[in-house]
Amino acid sequence: MKPLSLGILGGTFNPIHTGHIRLARYVQETLKLDRVLVIPDRIPPHKEARELLPGKDRLELCRIACAPYPELEVSDMELRREGNSYTVDTLKALKEKYPKASLTLIVGSDMFLTIDSWKNSGEIFRLAQICTGAREPADILRLEKKKVELEKLGAVCRILDLPVFQVSSTQIRKAVSLGANKKYLFALMPQEEAEAILKGGFYQTGETEQDEECLRFLPLLKERLSRKRLFHCRCVADMAQELAERFFPGTLDPRKARLAGLLHDICREDPEEKQLELIRREGMELDPILLQTPACWHGFAAAAYLKSSGGVTDEEILNAIRFHTTARRDMSPLEQVVFVADGISMDRIYPGVQELRESSRDSIEEGMLAMVKYSISNLMELNLPIGRYTWEAYNQLALLGHSLPTEKH
Ligand SMILES: [Fe+2]
Ligand SMILES: [Fe+2]
Repeated sequence: MKPLSLGILGGTFNPIHTGHIRLARYVQETLKLDRVLVIPDRIPPHKEARELLPGKDRLELCRIACAPYPELEVSDMELRREGNSYTVDTLKALKEKYPKASLTLIVGSDMFLTIDSWKNSGEIFRLAQICTGAREPADILRLEKKKVELEKLGAVCRILDLPVFQVSSTQIRKAVSLGANKKYLFALMPQEEAEAILKGGFYQTGETEQDEECLRFLPLLKERLSRKRLFHCRCVADMAQELAERFFPGTLDPRKARLAGLLHDICREDPEEKQLELIRREGMELDPILLQTPACWHGFAAAAYLKSSGGVTDEEILNAIRFHTTARRDMSPLEQVVFVADGISMDRIYPGVQELRESSRDSIEEGMLAMVKYSISNLMELNLPIGRYTWEAYNQLALLGHSLPTEKH
């Protein structure tokens, strides 16, 4: 009879998410394991234990999330043990329970690179083969190099080509604390688990906004926007602040970026006629093409509304909000960060968003160009006209794009 083969996926699971589940199932299937044990840590020795949900709750969420998969078995063996939880102790206990079983320890690539510094690593290598995967192609070389090193220490290692799923427990905790809507959470974790998190009030830390100006506008936003839209605005605020700090340190006030990001969609859910009325009341004339694209109106309407009734007088902020749907040429740093932040904020999960995030990693101009191209191609896809502001933004950025490589050489 073939000996029992067990995979072991330990972790904080604070909370478990679709990335963990895909990983466990992928390894089980690829290595033809009988099953994978999902084992929440008691006190994680390799991680900070901040914002940690009690063990019994993390365990319960693991059980809920893994319930549809008979090949995944959630174990409370580490939670039941007194003191720090070390991998070597878990492996020893499993070997005692299943003396004939072959064990495969599944670890993330970052863990794999430091595993020889773990407590009694020699013993770990004797008890289990180590399985990891590259998060991105650039990782493979480093992992292969480490594998050679570890094999000299007696380890048996497997490096798999793991499917990448962009999600982290930190992202989920943050999303819940910002009031994420269900649909967003369903994209990151099993539906039943998301329901349980919301029902149990987990990670709902109370108001997290610290900026006074933003706090002042929150009640108005809550009144005017759905939960989903408010969550989006809060995520754009975070991202706009981050981009301001990254690309314009010392020259653009990150608090201004935060406020503009928070307010940019304040009129998004107003009826179209009301948006148009607000724009006209401010004395602004939309060109004929813009008049054909109501989806772009809410930026102009928001600027008009905030100026007339919201007490926002800062023209820079108003322009960042006004042009967040269309972009335009010669955008100010604040306009740029709000425009890009709106497309790549944490709540965005549309196809292609990851590429847009990559484009915005090192250069705001590249991020802007990618975003403008993305919105132009979307408009074309829908047979919608493209307004003057957007074309002018595109032309300026495209020309800048041509000059960038020669400038760099
Ligand atoms: Fe918008
Ligand atoms: Fe938006």
